[in-house]
Amino acid sequence: MESLLIKGLSPLKGSVGISGSKNAVLPIMAATVLCSDEVILSGVPDLEDIKVMAQVLKILGAKVKKEKDVLIIDSSSVNAIELPDAMTRKMRASNLVMGPLLGRFHHAKVAYPGGCAIGSRPVNLHLKGFCDLGFDVKAKYGFMEGKGRPWGGKEILLDTPSVGATENIMMAASLVSGETVIRNAAREPEIIDLQNFLNRMGAKIRGAGLDTIYVEGVKKLGKAEYRIIPDRIEAGTFIAAAAISNGDVLIENVVLEYIRPVISKFREMGVNITESKYGLRVTGNRPYKPVDIKTIPHPGYPTDMQAQMMALLTTVAGTSIVVETIFENRFMHVQELRRMGAEIALEGRAAIIKGKEKLEGAIVDATDLRAGAALIIAALFAEGVTQINNIYHIERGYENIHLKLESLGADIKRALL
Ligand code: UD1
Repeated sequence: MESLLIKGLSPLKGSVGISGSKNAVLPIMAATVLCSDEVILSGVPDLEDIKVMAQVLKILGAKVKKEKDVLIIDSSSVNAIELPDAMTRKMRASNLVMGPLLGRFHHAKVAYPGGCAIGSRPVNLHLKGFCDLGFDVKAKYGFMEGKGRPWGGKEILLDTPSVGATENIMMAASLVSGETVIRNAAREPEIIDLQNFLNRMGAKIRGAGLDTIYVEGVKKLGKAEYRIIPDRIEAGTFIAAAAISNGDVLIENVVLEYIRPVISKFREMGVNITESKYGLRVTGNRPYKPVDIKTIPHPGYPTDMQAQMMALLTTVAGTSIVVETIFENRFMHVQELRRMGAEIALEGRAAIIKGKEKLEGAIVDATDLRAGAALIIAALFAEGVTQINNIYHIERGYENIHLKLESLGADIKRALL
């Protein structure tokens, strides 16, 4: 089992570069299925989830090559429309190929994705979207299957602004004739990146970043080169790491506009963040003030930064309240943080945190990606050594995190125990 061993209490100092966004690159990789030509993506991080999506594309018949941070995908040879259960179980986001397969081949059969550690995560909105687009959709024998050659404009209203459903519908609609209007669409930066990429391939989409997206179907999508946006959640995680260790860190390669909701909460606590053309400089400024947080779809506070922020708040004197409204079971980090001495009470979807002056190193488990990141942050403040197990969860979404932290002066080792 691979683990991280972190000895706390060294302030982080120096600069760190943020990698390309995992949540932007996954749908963009899926979208290459729409194109019967070669696509070149740069700024692609080296992550387990990206490898799984590459495997998904290969199963469908695509040729995929990776050279450093460049991914070359040739989807001209895609000849399968079915994705087996083994792949959707490995990574939920592999269901994002359903929209592209429907758009290009008018037929897709994708194994039903299960729930995961943070919640049941249904796909009803994806299916309803395909149905409203005019596809004949069935969910049977463990598969979601769609067929048909819809035409004419359609209006789709999402009950909740689901990121994945918005992406899947945008991708399918880009090759469906007529104008599709998606209302109550997700507004996350990754949706804007997907729109920009699809348009680079020749799609006609506008509105991403707002709650109504207009997709004018085109006949064909062609070759494209595209650079992925930096990962706003990785940037937020490094802000939390710099703040908890009372460090001085320059975070390079960030799109400020995309991480404003996160920056604004850190500033409310009293973390010093200055913006420049070089990036974000975070300087520790203890004592911080307690704050209340409620996760809300973008541009609200992101659920993907909830656990990391909670780790920081466990070290801030006073009471902070964190309410998770997006996923029903996203407090798995609480029991692990308690092992390190944190005082957190759970009441339904709220966590009530009483900040402590110190945390203690302990043996803890990374139960999911962001929960694991939260444990790293807590470990940077803990007395003694923290051993974080099951770090494959963390490495699904953070590129070289131990090397990046080590370069900032953290006492961290990756070990096979
Ligand atoms: C994406 C992100 C994930 C992030 C989440 C919310 C990727 C690969 N993953 O996940 O990191 O935490 O957005 O910002 O980009 N829902 C339904 N029915 C559906 C779809 C979703 O009820 O058909 C619910 C979910 O259970 C959840 C909420 O909607 O409660 C938001 O989910 P969604 O925005 O779809 O998240 P993902 O796209 O799965």
